[in-house]
Amino acid sequence: MSESLEQVTHIESVRLGEDGKSVVIIDQTQLPNRLEYLTLRTREEMFDAIKLLKVRGAPAIGICAGYCIYALAARYGVSEPDKFLTRFRADKDFLNASRPTAVNLSWALGRMEQVLLAHISEPIPAILDLLRAECIAIHREDIAMCRAISEYGLSLLHDGDGILTHCNAGPLATSRYGTGQGPLFLGKEKGYTFRVFADETRPLLQGARLTSYELQRAGVDVTLICDNMASIVMKNGWIDACLVGCDRVAANGDAANKIGTSGVAILAKHYDIPFYVLGPTSTIDMACPDGDHIPIELRDPEEIKTKFYAQPMALPEVKCYDPSFDVTDHSLITAIITEKGICRPPFTDSLAALFR
Ligand code: MRU
Repeated sequence: MSESLEQVTHIESVRLGEDGKSVVIIDQTQLPNRLEYLTLRTREEMFDAIKLLKVRGAPAIGICAGYCIYALAARYGVSEPDKFLTRFRADKDFLNASRPTAVNLSWALGRMEQVLLAHISEPIPAILDLLRAECIAIHREDIAMCRAISEYGLSLLHDGDGILTHCNAGPLATSRYGTGQGPLFLGKEKGYTFRVFADETRPLLQGARLTSYELQRAGVDVTLICDNMASIVMKNGWIDACLVGCDRVAANGDAANKIGTSGVAILAKHYDIPFYVLGPTSTIDMACPDGDHIPIELRDPEEIKTKFYAQPMALPEVKCYDPSFDVTDHSLITAIITEKGICRPPFTDSLAALFR
């Protein structure tokens, strides 16, 4: 493994603070210009870090949420279980409201709550030990899941393939290799040469700021394109497969991911290019029947009008529509790749089989 590849894949975008009562994150909004770490101590700081995408990417949000709720609980200083539970639930609900689409947020918080409920009759120090072990387990499991997803994803690709990616689903958004971009880092490690086209991914440019940054530093051949260039690179015959992450997959296979993903999938169908969605089973929401039931987060119009520009690029009074995600219809997806295996249509059956 080249030194730079290891540096990229082993970056820790989220970890528990040394004091066990704070969470340390990489501020992803500052990349690629500055690698800055932030220490989150209050629930307001944690809420803002998730809402403002300082920490982002569905798995990283889940890992962060686990550490956050533990760090907050470690500060309660109460000895009565009912008071502990009341405060825990209030903090859980507060954090859970920070971003609605990525199901990993509520999944991780729910997992932490289950541990608390199962041991509520034990002394608070013992409960805290168990909560600490659980959030560390969520993080460790993510490392293993990303590796498995990357292996399965790589098994569908060939050396020399041209790959289109959208948004960022690499090490910063997850643990180690990533999900949507995991096969590219694992492939690099195994000596594959891919030609990657990274959509810049408007409006927040995670593709430009994070994906091209990670791939370039890892020594992968990456070309940055604007989102509206996906069609021409496909038409040119430069793309053999599309790889994307996901924020919530419904039981029928409809998959929410960063805004613009569904357009890439429609183009891929037109040009007969396989379209793969990669994510852990924690991102599959079997309680959600289809994409119409996935809440879509709306964001600040200034992300479109002024952010990243030296001068405003639209009149202040112009109306903007700034959804963060869209849903790719299951009929456009070739396969959904999880740590438990590759699911093919009909997804209602293949996804349900993962949970049996
Ligand atoms: O709004 P973001 O940047 O959190 O959106 C991220 C994505 O859409 C990713 O592709 C998804 O979370 C998967 S990250 C492994």
